[in-house]
Amino acid sequence: MENFEPEIVAFCCHYCAYTAADMAGSKRISYPSNVKIIRVPCTGKVDAIHLMKALEKGADGVYVAGCLEGDCHFKNGNLRAKARVERVQKTLEDLGWETERVAMLNMSAGMGEHFAKTAREFTEKIKTLGPNPVKTVNKAV
Ligand code: FES
Repeated sequence: MENFEPEIVAFCCHYCAYTAADMAGSKRISYPSNVKIIRVPCTGKVDAIHLMKALEKGADGVYVAGCLEGDCHFKNGNLRAKARVERVQKTLEDLGWETERVAMLNMSAGMGEHFAKTAREFTEKIKTLGPNPVKTVNKAV
């Protein structure tokens, strides 16, 4: 498992996490290239099916990064996203998967360092969990 490089999908809100990632880049604060960013206008646009689809397609971990609670530009999109993440975690639990493969993070646009830190931490966590079980099933078929 020591050579395992996880594939991670991060749904990032345009107004906060995406800008924070951009800031991290411009300040030359590195974060793992394992994290593939998908920019969304608000995390409220990320549905449970998007998270499940990413896992089904082989992502080892998925997270949604939205504005700080109370700061969503669309009022409560980040709270809707949080509820969806929790619903997906419950589904994963029912399937016997690790719930930590899916997470909700919150940050502001100015938190470039925090973006990089959480990307590193999430990547490390997924490394300890190992590959997405879907990959093992697909290999066996
Ligand atoms: Fe950022 Fe809604 S606008 S989470």
